[in-house]
Amino acid sequence: MGGIVFLDLRDRAGVVQVSFDPNFASAEAIAMAGSVGRESVVLIEGEVVARPDQGRNADLATGDVEVKAVSMRIVGPAETPAIPVVLGKGETLPSEELRLRHRYLDLRRPELQANIILRHRLMQTTRRYLSDRGYLEIETPILTKPTPEGARDYLVPSRVSAGEFYALPQSPQLYKQLLMISGFDRYFQIARCFRDEDLRADRQPEFTQIDIEASFVSAEDIYSLAEGLIAALWQERGIAVTTPFPRLTYAGAMERFGTDKPDTRYGLELFDATDAFRSTEFSIVRSAIEAGGRVRGVRIPGGAALSRKQVDELEALAKGAGAGGLLRLKREKGELTGPPAKFLSPDQGAMLGVAEGELCVLVAASDRVSSPALDRVRQEAARVMQLVPANTVRFLWVIDFPLFEKDGATATLGAVHHPFTAPHPEDLALLDSAPEKARALAYDVVLNGTELGGGSIRIADPEVQRRVFNLLAIDDATAQQRFGFLLEGLRSGAPPHGGIALGFDRIAMLLSGASSLRDVIAFPKSTAARALFEGAPTTVPPDDLHDLHIRLAEDEEALR
Ligand code: AMO
Repeated sequence: MGGIVFLDLRDRAGVVQVSFDPNFASAEAIAMAGSVGRESVVLIEGEVVARPDQGRNADLATGDVEVKAVSMRIVGPAETPAIPVVLGKGETLPSEELRLRHRYLDLRRPELQANIILRHRLMQTTRRYLSDRGYLEIETPILTKPTPEGARDYLVPSRVSAGEFYALPQSPQLYKQLLMISGFDRYFQIARCFRDEDLRADRQPEFTQIDIEASFVSAEDIYSLAEGLIAALWQERGIAVTTPFPRLTYAGAMERFGTDKPDTRYGLELFDATDAFRSTEFSIVRSAIEAGGRVRGVRIPGGAALSRKQVDELEALAKGAGAGGLLRLKREKGELTGPPAKFLSPDQGAMLGVAEGELCVLVAASDRVSSPALDRVRQEAARVMQLVPANTVRFLWVIDFPLFEKDGATATLGAVHHPFTAPHPEDLALLDSAPEKARALAYDVVLNGTELGGGSIRIADPEVQRRVFNLLAIDDATAQQRFGFLLEGLRSGAPPHGGIALGFDRIAMLLSGASSLRDVIAFPKSTAARALFEGAPTTVPPDDLHDLHIRLAEDEEALR
């Protein structure tokens, strides 16, 4: 412009305009500025000056100033970038796969820079908060023994001990309990955890927890510590969090929302419509009730106006979650219509409490089937009806989880949280008579439908631990082999203890407004658990495998 060349110079703090004016800059610098490739790294010497009034840019944080360059050096010339860093007008982001391949460039984008910087701040706040309260940051091993947290382990073969494997920790659970037994009494760690499980937007195979454990504490102590920490973290984004958080029992959450991580920013609570259908002629409903099921559903205000296609979509979600279908009723101009209506007397119809303009969708089935289906329907209905308020945070504790869950197919018991969770003291007797009814001293903290963290008071009595293992079909010999070090620890003077782990990546994701954990992790894995940038996992030379005493099978068949 009039012999002046302009450049946008970017670093992690932002962008500033640099002008190369023939009155100040050398001809060489001007020529260089005119031809330098995008994304090159340059050193510029110059003076920061106010821009002339007509050159100010209110959209830019540095829009009132510019750097008047005197000289320039290109220290890191860039080839044409494989993906754009600064999007031009009308340009859209390339596919995520391509961006993950060129992560070093993608990380230059201001959004990702801001996320990673926020992550750093959250980490420092966590350290400060916990350290100020007497919590010691202690690291625990990465090459370890399997920790049961419900996922598959990543295994690492041992070279020195042929045929033996380390597991990467699913969590530091056992170590933090041992640290309590060792007398450290307040521990935390920003801990890397590894879980080989199916990935979703809010799951990574390698993720970070804020892991906490303390001795001589009750669940109440953990609630208030975690609430304070969460409030401090949200404060980083200027969001005031009200504490204490409301609490819901697991049973109450399942009844009212069909999930143990309800989004309570909106209503649409589930209700029980079984009474209206008792002794009904409607055969699918009757057989579901006779089989011990219930009719449960949700009433959607304004939902009567949804198109057939929209309701079909709700039904598809319910079916995807395992339900046979959705029964639909709506009230318009005072009249209740829909396929089940003809089986309902006026009194029975009134029992459903469907108000004018409402759509009522029902599932007749066992709770095991209707809960997940209605949870999906409730969430989608809230989205479609625009009932989810923006900028609202609804934290809550879900407490009184069951200790065990029964596998539908095998009828064996599994741990709902993990096998080290203490039974509720009022339910100890149930361990003998009806263990699946026993509650645990376990709790989750939930925000807007996302599980942020979970924890429990632990079993400190080796005899109770042995009984719980036995109920989980872990016999004494297996318990000794897998968890002998914990059992020995518990027998050597163990304080009562408990703790929690918060999903750090999830917190960073929610606070940055990102929609995927990948946007708050510098080098994340793809949904196929691959590192696309560095290219992992990868094959290794046969000699390396040989050193590890491993030979690969020709094909899957050979392994049978
Ligand atoms: P839990 O298994 O509930 O508890 O994990 C605690 C929190 O960690 C986060 N999280 C994940 N984040 C990203 N990707 C994943 N794959 C993933 N899996 C879990 C969630 C979750 O709430 N040892 C116990 C804690 C304890 O009892 O103290 C544990 O690991 O936000």
